[in-house]
Amino acid sequence: MSEQMLLAFEDEAPLAQVLAQALGAPLAFVQRHAFPDGELRLRLPEGLPPRVLMLRGLQQPNEKLVELLLCAPAARELGARELILLSPYLAYMRQDMAFTPGEVVSQRHVAALLGSLFDAVLTVDPHLHRVRSMDELFPGRRGLALSAAPLLGQWVAQQLNRPILIGPDEEATQWVRAAAQPHALEWGIGRKCRLGDREVILELPPLEFGARAVVLLDDVASTGQTLIAAATQALARGAASVDVAVTHALFVGDALAQLHEAGVRHVWSTDAVPHPSNVVSVAPLLAQAVAQL
Ligand code: R5P
Repeated sequence: MSEQMLLAFEDEAPLAQVLAQALGAPLAFVQRHAFPDGELRLRLPEGLPPRVLMLRGLQQPNEKLVELLLCAPAARELGARELILLSPYLAYMRQDMAFTPGEVVSQRHVAALLGSLFDAVLTVDPHLHRVRSMDELFPGRRGLALSAAPLLGQWVAQQLNRPILIGPDEEATQWVRAAAQPHALEWGIGRKCRLGDREVILELPPLEFGARAVVLLDDVASTGQTLIAAATQALARGAASVDVAVTHALFVGDALAQLHEAGVRHVWSTDAVPHPSNVVSVAPLLAQAVAQL
């Protein structure tokens, strides 16, 4: 029997298959049935190897957190001695403080839950802002954040001639810098004020956009409103084209269509979240990190 196994869910099969190959590990799927009342019946393979890598991105997170709550102890009952969560998208990271009195700091509590279930948690480009590192969330070096920004930067540099990379807000600085610098691309950061779930005010940096290809780069696109505001402004300031590159393509509802209506040409993303815009795989990144654990 192999020493380790990748355990995944059918809706993430494309990434799971590439990842299993990169890891050189057997792949098995959790069988999942939802009862009419919403409860879940989950079934894991019997006789698990000592190390189990569980792949579960937390896009639309609430049900998936329950899956993990049930699958992690079950995997240990079935033989896993070391349980590692590979969660290419870690949800609830944006709520990192009580913005109003009494508000639950979800980031802290979700991290504590996952830390209690798994021996280690690996993720890609988590939205860490006020809490700067995974060590603060998962003490004892049990949390590891990888970045897809260099891969996105490489993709953009292959597609376009001398693009300007723009991060819509201060939080994006870390990703835009990591994407731009290896290719000596010009970059800048905007300023954003969020007024509501679907309402943002944004100001792009004072760079010369005239006749240049602009790429908006961010960790996550959800309603798309941040990118729409940025794209509208870049085009109004004379950009020749506006493309988008994000690690996590959540694109809820008709966000993608709205983005194209606002004039965005290409939307590129990683397969950290399954989406038709996926062009870059995070599988090699995850496989390399697992090998170094
Ligand atoms: C927040 O700062 C993130 O980096 C994204 O900019 C934000 O979550 C995008 O959300 P939306 O697509 O709903 O504007």
